[in-house]
Amino acid sequence: MRLSPFSGIYLTDPASMWRRILDDPAGVHHAEDLGLWLISRHEHVRRAFADAATFGNALTLAPVYEVCPEAMSVIMQLDAPPTTVAADPPVHPRTRRALRATFANTPDRVEAEYGAIVRRRVDQLVTRLVARQGRQVDLIPEFATELPLLVVLDILGVPEEDIGRIRGWADGQIALIWGQPDPEEQARLARGLLEFWHYCQELVRQRLDSGQLGDDFISRALAYRDDDDAVLSVAEVASLAFNLLVAGHETTAGLLAHALDQALSPAQRWRAIAADPLSVPAFVNETLRFAPAIDGWLRVTRRDVTLGEVTIPAGARCLLLIGAANRDPAVFAHPDRFDPHRSDGRDHLSFGHGPHFCIGAGLARLEATIALTRLATTIPGLRATPDQYRSYKPNVAFRAHRELLATVDIAGPADATTAREAASVEA
Ligand code: HEM
Repeated sequence: MRLSPFSGIYLTDPASMWRRILDDPAGVHHAEDLGLWLISRHEHVRRAFADAATFGNALTLAPVYEVCPEAMSVIMQLDAPPTTVAADPPVHPRTRRALRATFANTPDRVEAEYGAIVRRRVDQLVTRLVARQGRQVDLIPEFATELPLLVVLDILGVPEEDIGRIRGWADGQIALIWGQPDPEEQARLARGLLEFWHYCQELVRQRLDSGQLGDDFISRALAYRDDDDAVLSVAEVASLAFNLLVAGHETTAGLLAHALDQALSPAQRWRAIAADPLSVPAFVNETLRFAPAIDGWLRVTRRDVTLGEVTIPAGARCLLLIGAANRDPAVFAHPDRFDPHRSDGRDHLSFGHGPHFCIGAGLARLEATIALTRLATTIPGLRATPDQYRSYKPNVAFRAHRELLATVDIAGPADATTAREAASVEA
């Protein structure tokens, strides 16, 4: 079996590759072209996420391919200290404590601290879509990528006028680390990444120079550190902002894109959501399982490890195939069926597991739930353009739609009976 996360088939139909690896008796595959071990079983992926002593995080943000010397010389100048996904003990438990204290991460705190921001931004974007009545729109730039970026800027207290630059830098970072850019592009993206880091340092410096701390995340992190580097250094505050600006929007953009894609095809699902908004959280959860925004994530083995019958040597880069684990028949009944009513749906690994479990999971769920509910009830007739071809950007971690076309129709289904029928069809 020869499988590559950059093959044409993986970029158009990842589920068929997940099935092939899961069907292999080993469930582990060595992709020689990238030197990556692909791990597919739910049990193995869960263990790799949780077992920091065997599967280290330090190289999670290092490019998956050999970078050209020019790009490498720029990357070497990046002195952002690891604080989140690239941090291992003893640093990570300390920075994780800081993150938990300063970033809302339980459903109640998320609603209380970020609910109003999310609703305001959703309303703004839905109103803009309503103004396009009767027209075809691309929901990716017009909604899915825009909403989470605006929300995370608000939470961090970053000026909205910088949105274009931040989007470019964040997209560039994802392409540079987990994509397949040519050498010239690598050098350009690496320079962008360095600029992005300097920008985040400047955000922190401005707060310090002004002597005034507000209620935004950067201010909270500075207040938390209380001038004590042993708690959190100033560079670590900048690094947290640097990480959150990317983690907080590219991921949720993917969730919104996949949720809209699932909800609009077939059209009855959209009408069912409009008729029963309380069904949305379960719908969002099933989207996370079925089509995770991050479907592969990196770890490096710190010692030899045996998974099933395969021994992976120390120092090997492993791609944890979250998408495959979420369809492991050992855990999920009828795993290839999209079923928001399933009882085993909570066991998915889309937000990771263990010490690095996603700090933004609650925020991502809140954004997707409010966005879908508001869109479906305001534009119940929104319909996907038929027969459009789905393709994703070449990337081993982020599965991001290139486009998702739909026509705006605020009139909705012909009458209430249609909506009720749609709801019962879905049930
Ligand atoms: C659907 C949306 C999201 C998905 C699929 C997702 C996925 C993940 C995954 C798989 C991890 C684990 C990484 C690891 O174990 O190395 C993670 C960690 C993390 N996520 Fe998310 N994420 C999402 C949304 C967000 C949001 C909205 C934020 C913040 C605004 C965020 C911030 C983080 C941070 C800071 C970490 C690192 C935590 C640590 O290392 O302790 N994520 N996320």
